[in-house]
Amino acid sequence: MHVISCLDYAEMSRKTARIIAALVQLKPHCVLGLATGSTPVGTYKELIRYHLEEDLDFSNVTTVNLDEYYGLGPEHEQSYRCFMQRNLFDHINIPPENTHVPDGLTRDVARTCAEYDNLVASLGGTDIQLVGIGDNGHIAFNEPNTVFVANTHLVDLDEDTIKANARFFASEGDVPRQAITMGMRSIFSAKLILLLASGPNKASAIARMIKGPIDPQLPASILQLHPNVVVIAVKEALALV
Ligand code: GLP
Repeated sequence: MHVISCLDYAEMSRKTARIIAALVQLKPHCVLGLATGSTPVGTYKELIRYHLEEDLDFSNVTTVNLDEYYGLGPEHEQSYRCFMQRNLFDHINIPPENTHVPDGLTRDVARTCAEYDNLVASLGGTDIQLVGIGDNGHIAFNEPNTVFVANTHLVDLDEDTIKANARFFASEGDVPRQAITMGMRSIFSAKLILLLASGPNKASAIARMIKGPIDPQLPASILQLHPNVVVIAVKEALALV
């Protein structure tokens, strides 16, 4: 794993956006794997700036998002589809049909999950996969577990995750208890994985991810097996490395 230490959130966002913008410029038909959470918001702001001020063209780009809350539809303001529209898609020239987020309202979970993995495979995997990390070491919504799960699947969210994400909802009781998440196979299809982290609350998970054993109790630790991972993190998130 290559680690880039940044002085602050703005630097992390700029550095990440620069890499993504370079890919979009060099490979206009690229496939971007995207993430939600507060960490990538600054990166998305920078990409919007590249589009508005420097004509970065997203018209041939395809995106696949990591996950979606189960039970939330695209109109729900805390759904990840809505998050992506608000923070990126509505502000760049990507055709709506090129953007993919798992369907949180599906009545056929097994089929939706299988189709999502087929979609990623049919695209030839992602060129860059952006990922954040949960305080508990989750990536996407792959929670600490006794095994790593390969396929896109429905997952019960950890109490820790529900608490951490409650800040986005009116109350903790409003946070969905389940989500549909990409599993490790589709995440690993990426040619390059950019893992972002900001904040001292991520320091322990980052240290265990980089230095610890590969352990499904710390899902991000499996990234040690991917040949091309770059961690772009604000220095306080690297304090224990
Ligand atoms: C959610 C998402 C993850 C994200 C994590 C961290 O649980 N499913 O993809 O990495 O939150 O969020 P934040 O960036 O707000 O710390």
